[in-house]
Amino acid sequence: MARKNADGYLSAKESRRISRENRKVTNVFEKQRKRKNVPESEYLCEMKDISNVIEVEDLHTYFFTDVGTVKSVDGVSFSVPIGKTIGVVGESGCGKSVTSLSIMQLLQRPQGQIVSGEIRMNLGSKAYDIVKTPNEVMQHLRGNEISMIFQEPMTALNPVFRIGAQVDEVLALHNPDMSKHDVRQRSVELLDLVGIANPERVYKMYPHELSGGMRQRVVIAMALACDPKLIIADEPTTALDVTIQAQILDLLRRLKDRINSSIMLITHDLGVIAEMADYVVVMYSGRIVESGTAEEIFNNPAHPYTKGLMASKPVVGRKVDSLYSIPGKVPNPVNMPDYCYFKDRCELCVGKCAGEYPPEIKLSATHTVACYRYVDKEGETNG
Ligand SMILES: Nc1ncnc2c1ncn2[C@@H]1O[C@H](COP(=O)(O)OP(=O)(O)O)[C@@H](O)[C@H]1O
Ligand SMILES: [Mg+2]
Repeated sequence: MARKNADGYLSAKESRRISRENRKVTNVFEKQRKRKNVPESEYLCEMKDISNVIEVEDLHTYFFTDVGTVKSVDGVSFSVPIGKTIGVVGESGCGKSVTSLSIMQLLQRPQGQIVSGEIRMNLGSKAYDIVKTPNEVMQHLRGNEISMIFQEPMTALNPVFRIGAQVDEVLALHNPDMSKHDVRQRSVELLDLVGIANPERVYKMYPHELSGGMRQRVVIAMALACDPKLIIADEPTTALDVTIQAQILDLLRRLKDRINSSIMLITHDLGVIAEMADYVVVMYSGRIVESGTAEEIFNNPAHPYTKGLMASKPVVGRKVDSLYSIPGKVPNPVNMPDYCYFKDRCELCVGKCAGEYPPEIKLSATHTVACYRYVDKEGETNG
């Protein structure tokens, strides 16, 4: 346990001690990750269900910081079926981005590390466990098999290069045999595909000459350049206004069907989820509190947190004096309590909530919830 001084801050000495210990831990992970010529057999794995493109099982991703270990993702399991969209929803800070960065292996290293769990990626003829896949190999998976669309398109584009050069670069990197002329032609095609009018002209423009929506289209074009099996979209429309948001979502949906890939859509916006997702995962403080089909989650939300999220969403035609907001805030993941993380904000607590973290209860074949309110009702637990 970290010792704090009278002001509640860690002393410099204590901080240095933690930092030294962290380095010991992270060096072990880093060494593993940076190995060269690792035999494929070490990271080959079997999918539990071959109709899934990704299966995440009991994923733990921690950040080893100078003030302590941040358990950003603490035992998350879910899968993404081929050709489907899974929505991941939860308040800011609940571990959505860290989950997706873990899948991409783009965590801020060396502090951020996947400490345990499996991420099985279906590559058709074989499957890889991304947790064990070395950096060398990961470089080929990123872009080719999995690609990511970030919230703020300006950060994904380089302001000093023309749009065309940036799309060309992605294509050339993943298709080393393609001629310069073919790359250029394909880039223009891609820009056209994502609904950019006059793609030849945009090809020669700089990012600052485009609107936010146009930039996000360019980023999507880059993400789709190699027909990835999985597209991770982390708050892809949060920086855009509502009408553009609808266009971008529509575009994503159409492109996904065209290349028959899957989407993992991360958002704090339930409206976006309702429109896009086949399955929904509700995250709270680094764990999944509820998951199910979109219908189950919207028609029959079980966890008090999901109910709270639903209640805090405005509904057209329903008049309210003030919009509901869940009291309190997401707990600090450095010092998590042993009981249900939502307990201190929950208005529906029962006696057992003060006990250990609730087990996962199956409400249907697809619907699960981690909450004591359902333990006795259903009688069966699988956690
Ligand atoms: N690089 C980092 N170093 C330390 N803590 C981090 C880092 N990145 C994220 N975290 C912490 O992990 C938790 C989850 O963050 P994140 O996944 O970004 O949340 P969100 O659900 O909003 O995407 C937060 O408490 C955040 O402070
Ligand atoms: Mg995020």
